[in-house]
Amino acid sequence: MSSTPSPSSNGDSSPAVAIVTSIVGAIVVIAVTYFILRCMLIRMRLRYGDGRRASGDPEQPTATVPATTLDSRIGTEPVEKFLKDILKEKPMRFTPQDLENFTQNYGQVLGSGGFGVVYKGQFLNGLPMAVKLLNSAMSKRAEEQFVAEIGTIGRTYHINLVKLYGFCFDKSVKALVYEYMENGSLDKYLFNDDQRIEWGKLHEIAVGTAKGIRYLHEECQQKIVHYDIKPANVLLTANFTPKVADFGLAKFCDREGISSVTTLTGARGTPGYAAPELWMPIPVTHKCDVYSFGMLLFEILGRRRNLSVLGTEQSQELEWFPLLVWTKFEEGNMESIISSCGIGEKDREKAERMCQVALWCVQYKPEERPAMNSVVRMLEGEQEIVPPTHPFHYMTSVSASSVSGITSGTAVTDSTGIDDSNSSSVLERPLI
Ligand SMILES: Nc1ncnc2c1ncn2[C@@H]1O[C@H](COP(=O)(O)OP(=O)(O)OP(=O)(O)O)[C@@H](O)[C@H]1O
Ligand SMILES: [Mg+2]
Repeated sequence: MSSTPSPSSNGDSSPAVAIVTSIVGAIVVIAVTYFILRCMLIRMRLRYGDGRRASGDPEQPTATVPATTLDSRIGTEPVEKFLKDILKEKPMRFTPQDLENFTQNYGQVLGSGGFGVVYKGQFLNGLPMAVKLLNSAMSKRAEEQFVAEIGTIGRTYHINLVKLYGFCFDKSVKALVYEYMENGSLDKYLFNDDQRIEWGKLHEIAVGTAKGIRYLHEECQQKIVHYDIKPANVLLTANFTPKVADFGLAKFCDREGISSVTTLTGARGTPGYAAPELWMPIPVTHKCDVYSFGMLLFEILGRRRNLSVLGTEQSQELEWFPLLVWTKFEEGNMESIISSCGIGEKDREKAERMCQVALWCVQYKPEERPAMNSVVRMLEGEQEIVPPTHPFHYMTSVSASSVSGITSGTAVTDSTGIDDSNSSSVLERPLI
């Protein structure tokens, strides 16, 4: 005689057994699904490996293809999500040989900047890419930061940020592999007379760019300060969707000795766009990006460089557009700025908003500049704009067309960080 209750002898145990059976069943189903998914992933990797061997490079470690490549090979939704999640974890690591193959021995240059030369390349399936080959002279610290930052940037996904497919970190080759942007950088459309974008589209580009920066500052896992917002770092897709490029790069690249950056203070950023505090020995916050974005907005507004040379060869004057905008705004004559920029009636309201948002963004004190979320909302007309205060009051006794000595559009202060607004010669000190 057994005292153990059996399912038939005890009516209460039936539901318990049923529950246990369902739990075990569910676990088995999950385990089998997981196993199938793992197998499919391994198969995908093997297939890509075969492709590489077919290209005559059997010795190299297998590189993983970017999400878009794998996505096109998979039909089922759950697998797609599973693979995307895995690929989102970290960007791919490529070998120097991979890069040579992708770029056909670095055959096509897309451009060059402070960090190195950018080449066009493509994956085996034809997906284009841009390979930024970084200058070889990287300090130990910069190398460490490079590795650390790859993780952050690789996990950063937003429609208005250029996607990082992967990187190469080798003794002799350091490179970043980005998605390819068909229409190149915004500067070419702002400053070349032969390549123009209609102003309404430029306004959309401004809003998209602001959303990309807002994501870096306010929405992604870890706050990222760009430090180098400028038209050259806004890239455009085939249909002119803007994507911010090089985010985080300034944090892990050793920029000393690069012409676009002062070597006196070791500050980051590009003259003309860098916030005043970047040139001072004080802490810098994400608001430095807001300042740079403001400078970019002025350039979008005017479709011109903020600093331009006026007059004849004999008597030249520099005109600083942001100060001109402020002067006209203060006079209540924004209309003259908008019409001188060739902006039509249909875009007038947007242009007026852009003027005011730009003036708010370049306020001297970082805390007076708006957060990027407000910038987006003001540009889109969803948030009322309080009339801006004078952003350049520390630059006394100057007019927009008498900024001789200034070598960029960047706000100028004493390099010691002391507001030198009482000195009439403050603008005669070049930044670089
Ligand atoms: N992902 C990309 N797709 C297409 N073209 C690109 C891409 N990235 C860069 N380029 C091209 O290469 C040029 C140089 O870019 P790079 O970022 O090296 O320099 P920069 O932006 O002018 O200066 P900085 O080094 O200060 O960022 C860009 O102006 C653009 O024309
Ligand atoms: Mg760049």
